[in-house]
Formats: sequence, structure tokens, C-alpha cells
Amino acid sequence: MDSKVEYKTTSDITAYKVSGDKGKALNYDNIFQFGAESISTDLLEKIRNIRKDLPLHPLLSRQIVYAHRDLEKMLHLHSIGKPFYIYTGRGASSKSLHLGHLNVFSFTKYLQDLFDTTVVIQMTDDEKFLFNDKLSLDQCKSYAIENIKDIIACGFNPKKTFIFQNTEYMGEMYSTVLQVQKCLPFNQIKSAFGFELDGCNIGKVSYPPLQIAPCFSQCFSTQFNNQVMPCLIPCAVDQDVFFKLSRDIAHKLKLPKPSVIHSKFLPSLLGVHEKMSASDEKSVIFMTDTPSQIIKKIKSAMSGSTGTLEQHRKTGANLDLDVAFQYLRFVEPDDEKLNNIADTYKKGTLTSPEVKKILTDIVLKIVVDFQLARAQVIDEVVAQFKCIRNLPY
Ligand code: TYM
Repeated sequence: MDSKVEYKTTSDITAYKVSGDKGKALNYDNIFQFGAESISTDLLEKIRNIRKDLPLHPLLSRQIVYAHRDLEKMLHLHSIGKPFYIYTGRGASSKSLHLGHLNVFSFTKYLQDLFDTTVVIQMTDDEKFLFNDKLSLDQCKSYAIENIKDIIACGFNPKKTFIFQNTEYMGEMYSTVLQVQKCLPFNQIKSAFGFELDGCNIGKVSYPPLQIAPCFSQCFSTQFNNQVMPCLIPCAVDQDVFFKLSRDIAHKLKLPKPSVIHSKFLPSLLGVHEKMSASDEKSVIFMTDTPSQIIKKIKSAMSGSTGTLEQHRKTGANLDLDVAFQYLRFVEPDDEKLNNIADTYKKGTLTSPEVKKILTDIVLKIVVDFQLARAQVIDEVVAQFKCIRNLPY
């Protein structure tokens, strides 16, 4: 076990709810009580040195990707030429990815380039059906397909990427799912996820093994030619509980423990106390939004500058609570520009509408470029990524 403390579900962040006190940033530190480590400057240096021609990703240097479990083990394997794969996923409750998801998938693509390795991406149409009373199974399946197109548009290498939907791939995974189920006592799942017994459908309780199973390479025996290898999982921190459980049971299955690399959330438009979420229309910028929708949404984002212009000139903005500035930390690639905005906005020289305008221009470009790439992803391309085939690693 990584830690003897029970995984606490009363923090700001759990697998199925992310929300803290209004007017305060989310507390991301809880994870350190459960065996995760922060990404040290030493570790950043090691990552930077893997490929001199690939600059360190800004999400890493800005500590938005901030914690890990056993990442060093993966760096070591890479340095001695031993294979591992990358595993991530998406549970689509909307037709499109949002800007927060885009960051996680772009970062995963960066890891694919960095390690030149195979990526498997799980689409949990089953999870969304079980956890969202408003969605039919057909809707969940069709959202999964639309989201697969979005994910492909992030630029994954078609030769080294396999994408699967649980409702279709279950047969291939079932033996591993069974082994995982047998290792997980009901009480452990109940307390790890905070499931209430009254009114909780049994599908919810039986779902976690489905997300845990792909941590083990035997789920992909054709793709990996029966080779046993560990995986590295990039995700935002809400998903950690699944992978902490995977690590806890790996020794019972006599399989390698997965490693995890965790990111913080792109906040909601409504404030930094919650994440941007596809299920809350008011919180979110979708990758399908039109320019006028984006302009309107960013204008309405919660500001860290309050009072009159005169007051702002005197006191400046609180950057920690300013949604537009926090988004810039995710999407403005140039450190110098970002620092300059931070300095002048904090002092009150730059105003909130000006910062929102800078952000709007960047987001409009990201969304337009994304939509162009997405338009190229036709059904044949989806079929190529979903095809069960031998993958080089
Ligand atoms: P889902 O669909 O909620 O989210 C997909 C991925 O995006 C991360 N994420 C965010 N990242 C930054 N800012 C946000 N506002 C934000 N909201 C969500 C999530 O942490 C996730 O990494 N159960 C999963 C699907 C899944 C999965 C996996 C995720 C299956 N297997 C393996 C990661 C790794 C889900 O519903 O994710």
C-alpha cells in the first residue's frame, strides 16, 4: 500500500465532485497525504534533458502539472531503453471536449513525443451512462465517437495510438477486469469513492475496475504482443483515486505498478473554487464554441479585480482569484509575456477587460486551429485509431 490512511473523500477534489469554498482556490495538496509526490526541480531537469530539441512543457515549468507517483521509474526505464506505455481517458458527457480537456490531451501528446511511446485512450461511455441520469446509452456512445475525433485532432501519432470505447472493448478487457474485481473489497470501493448505499445503482460500484484494468498491459495483448510492461497515466488530479487503487492491488496480480502524473484543473468561468466542467454550461468553453460565444464567455469570467477603475489602479488585481489570468497560465506559451501581464495586472496598470482581451485573442486562435484540425478527422481516421492491431513500442 502507498499509505495507510484511508483515501479521504471530504477534500475539495473527488472523482465525481470538484468544488471548494467560493472565493478560494481549490486545495490541491490533499494528494500528498496519500503517497503522491510533488514534481521537484531536479525531476524537471531530468525531463528537460530527455530531448534537447523539445522544450519543457509550460504546464510542467509552471507547476500546473505538479504531482506524480513513481514518475522517476518511467524516466529510468526510458533511459535504459525498456518499454512502457501511456494510458489516459475521457468520459464524454458532452458532444465536445472543453478547453481544460484539451490541455490534458495536448500534454499527453507531448509525453508521446517526449518518450516516443505508445498511447492507449479509454472512452468510458459506460461510466457516463451509469453516473449521469440524464444521458441515454446511445447518447453516451455517440458523444464518445465525437470526442474521439476531438482527441485525434490533438495530433496523436496514428501508428502508436489505440483508442477504445468500453462498450465495444469489454470482451478484450474482461479477464483483467475480473482479476481486478476479485482484489477489491466492496468496502474499499465504497469508502474510496464515497458511494452512498441508498439509491446508488450497482453499476456505479462496479465501474472502477473498468478504469483500473487498462493500467495493466494484459488488456492489450494484441497491441503489445503479450509483452508485460508498466504504464504512465497523465490525468487531472480528480482521477487519482482509481490509480492509487491500481497501485495498491498490482502486487496481488503480480503485475507492475502504474505511474501517474497529475495536473491541476483549468478553473470554471465562474471562479477558481471549481473546475471547468462539461456538465455545467456556465463554467465552460467548448472547442465547438463560436467566436462570439467565446468573447461573451470570457467577458463574463470571474475577475480578481473588484471595485472602480480608480480603486483597481490603487490596489491592482488578485491574480490567484482571477479566472482570465489563471487561463493565461495554461495557454500563453511565452513566460516573459506572462510575467509581464502578471506584474502590470497586479499593480493595477493593466485592467481586467484588457487581460480578458489578451486571453480572448489567444483562445480564439486555439479554437480556430483546433476546429480546422478536427475537420480533417473523418470516420476512416477514427476506424484506424480504433483498430485492434499490433503497435510498435
Ligand atoms: P473526464 O472526461 O472527466 O476528463 C478527461 C480528462 O480531463 C481531465 N479534466 C480536466 N483537466 C483540466 N481542467 C479541467 N477543468 C478538467 N476536467 C477534467 C480529467 O482529470 C481527465 O484526465 N473517468 C474519466 C475517464 C478516464 C480516464 C482514464 C481519465 C478513463 N480512464 C485514465 C484519465 C486517465 C473521466 O470521466 O474523465
